[in-house]
Amino acid sequence: MKKILTGLQPTGELTLGNYIGAIKQMKEYQEKYESYLFVADMHSITINQDSKILREKSKSLIALYLACGIDPQKNIIFLQSDNIYHANISWVLECNTYFGELSRMTQFKDKSSKHQNFTAGLFTYPILMAGDILLYDVDYVPVGKDQKQHVELTRDIAQRFNKKYGETFKIPEPLINKVGANIMDLVDPTKKMSKSSENKKGIIQLLDDEKMIRKKIMGATTDSFGKIHYDTQNQPGISNLMTIYASLKNCPIEMVEEQFKDSNYGSFKKEVADLVIDILLPIQTKYRELLNSNQIDDILDHGKDVTTKIACKKYELVKQKVGLGR
Ligand code: AMP
Ligand code: TRP
Repeated sequence: MKKILTGLQPTGELTLGNYIGAIKQMKEYQEKYESYLFVADMHSITINQDSKILREKSKSLIALYLACGIDPQKNIIFLQSDNIYHANISWVLECNTYFGELSRMTQFKDKSSKHQNFTAGLFTYPILMAGDILLYDVDYVPVGKDQKQHVELTRDIAQRFNKKYGETFKIPEPLINKVGANIMDLVDPTKKMSKSSENKKGIIQLLDDEKMIRKKIMGATTDSFGKIHYDTQNQPGISNLMTIYASLKNCPIEMVEEQFKDSNYGSFKKEVADLVIDILLPIQTKYRELLNSNQIDDILDHGKDVTTKIACKKYELVKQKVGLGR
């Protein structure tokens, strides 16, 4: 069975965009790959975090993924900082990565241009990510488009290391979400629904309550054509609601168009809101149950044990190749 690994940063609140664009896909992957899923809490401290909130968020992120249907029997789930080998290998990889390569990372360029002061960690973080991946000899790394460059850097680092020290790492490939569905902002349907969006009216958070979900969907920006028709250019708002409906029902857009061809916007929006609520409310109930149980800790303890053994072995090999230790 091919192996996959992905990391999730415990910052921001997950949105319906994440659910449709990434979590649904992970549920498919868990059926066909040996899957490793971890909370990348060490990545999050590249920018300033409140320690109490960070710790809570790490746990609640796992609860939410489990509530959405990520199966702990089918995924090894762990917390990055529970496994000391991620930081250890990262140092060795830092010494095998060039300053110039890191300087070309577009995410670094974006983020550093927004802050006057930024940490060295923000600059070197793609190497920590390379370590996350290379410790486990994975075949594929499911990521959003913005992370593709980091997986490519990981490949470059691994290839260079293998060439210099002999075969050590498997060369991973990025697995970019191929779901056509990009969920757009409800207020401004020309931009992506993003968890970092300032205007919360445009985004549905997975933990929004029923009233809030209904209000946001009923208030979604539409147009004056008055026809439920899929046309992202001229009717981006309605098209986005159609995409949400089709994705959650697992049906083609054409079917949605046919089903609602005689409806007005108000009644269509109500149907969309009902469907989103039907899907999110049981997830929220499950989420609360999980947070109030010991299950998350048990899962993380298991993940820590399993991944520490694998990572230790790889790190020892790296030490031996490089000449570290006795
Ligand atoms: P982010 O929240 O930007 O870190 O993205 C995490 C994952 O969710 C990535 O795989 C994205 O492709 C997916 N994702 C985030 N926002 C959306 C959206 N509005 N529509 C579809 N997929 C999304
Ligand atoms: N950098 C990723 C993000 O910001 C999270 C991440 C950390 C990751 N390590 C990883 C993703 C390893 C895939 C594989 O979203």
